[in-house]
Amino acid sequence: MSFPEGFLWGVAAASFQNEGAAFEDGKGASIWDMMARWEGKIWNGDTPEPACDQYHRYPEDARIMREIGIKCYRMSVAWPRVFPEGIGAVNEKGLAFYDRFIDTLLENGVEPWVSLYHWDYPYALHLRGGWLNPDSPDWFADYTAVVVDRLSDRVMYWETINEPQVFIGAGYREGTNPPGLKLDNPEVLLVAHNTLLSHGKGVQVIRARARREPRVGAVLVGFVAAPATDSPEDIEAARNYMFTLTKNQLKNTWLADPIYFGRYPEDGMQVHGKDVPQIRPGDMETICQPLDFCCINLYAGETVRASSNSRYEILPVSIGSPLTHTPWRVTPEIMYWGPRLFHERYGLPVVVTENGMDNCDWVHLDGKVHDLQRIDYLTRYLRELSRAIDDGVDVRGYFHWTFTDNWECILGYKPRMGIVYVDYATQKRILKDSAYWYRDVIASNGAVFDAKPNTETW
Ligand code: FCB
Repeated sequence: MSFPEGFLWGVAAASFQNEGAAFEDGKGASIWDMMARWEGKIWNGDTPEPACDQYHRYPEDARIMREIGIKCYRMSVAWPRVFPEGIGAVNEKGLAFYDRFIDTLLENGVEPWVSLYHWDYPYALHLRGGWLNPDSPDWFADYTAVVVDRLSDRVMYWETINEPQVFIGAGYREGTNPPGLKLDNPEVLLVAHNTLLSHGKGVQVIRARARREPRVGAVLVGFVAAPATDSPEDIEAARNYMFTLTKNQLKNTWLADPIYFGRYPEDGMQVHGKDVPQIRPGDMETICQPLDFCCINLYAGETVRASSNSRYEILPVSIGSPLTHTPWRVTPEIMYWGPRLFHERYGLPVVVTENGMDNCDWVHLDGKVHDLQRIDYLTRYLRELSRAIDDGVDVRGYFHWTFTDNWECILGYKPRMGIVYVDYATQKRILKDSAYWYRDVIASNGAVFDAKPNTETW
């Protein structure tokens, strides 16, 4: 098994989950810093401080990436590090950090993929209504301009927003993620609309100001189902699961159709009905900007089959099905069906911008971290991705979530999702077996899947 020439092998991470230094060098608070001080919200009371102290240890991290042979590092810029108040005065020290970090990545042969917004909204702007505020798309555009002006002589790959379905659903509807609100559907849809406008304005700014010719995408989490069989009816059921909407859902299409097609989906307009916010003339043109990739994050999904009385039927999970430590299901088939059906619908080259698992990792008595489950998981998922490519799906890259173990949002430091282990007391990094395995995968451009992992030489 192999991957196309020039396939982009990467790892993904995010500012507030990795950097630490949450209040250093003038950084303003984010809504995650806000939630981290609320009692009982985050597992074990863990805070984004120290995370993996990447703010100080980025040279070591870049060196490890080089050792593994990682080609691309998907990182994000912390908006409140650049603008402590979200707008207004720029924090030069914050920008200077990203300057140094990016230079160091490039010196180590690693191409940065920069996400402008991976969930750490400036607290100061949250106090002004955050994404509910009609000015929020302009705030985002102004922030984007400053980052692009500073970094685009070196950065070529940009993503505007990360997983809007998750930060809107969990943050504004369910209240489990920051800002912890439980809003009703009309306000949730307003947050979504302003997020979409922010994305569109962000792309306009990137294209107008970037000095290196940019490649731009938006990162959506993929709600994916695999069909129970290869019959056309079951495949249609999978399409229906992925691209139709029922009550109160954002799922894939409510965000993706405006971004790629310039319109909200018809069925969504019907189910959301009078809850849909006012769409002003020009909004959809702003939202629907030309993009270079369809970026999707893929972790776990469902299996569906055709049904005589609904658009799909979700198969029950069989007893004893494998689960990761968090626990999320292990469903490698979505790595075939996700790229295939997203590509079929939206027509753009696909990049898998996140995939990975939380494993029960610790340092073994021999001083190493033997994470065979992760190697097996990744082998299964990457085989499916390779099968999609063999079947003609244009997939350009794959980013493993994540590089080092890090602060996993409301789950704190409990999950260990990295290929590099972090001892948080000393900040020592230990390459897990999967890091050496990934090194071999990258070096052989995927051919190593054909062989059994040879852990003895690691
Ligand atoms: C995704 C997020 C990312 C990380 C992984 C496990 O939803 O984009 O920040 O927490 O899940």
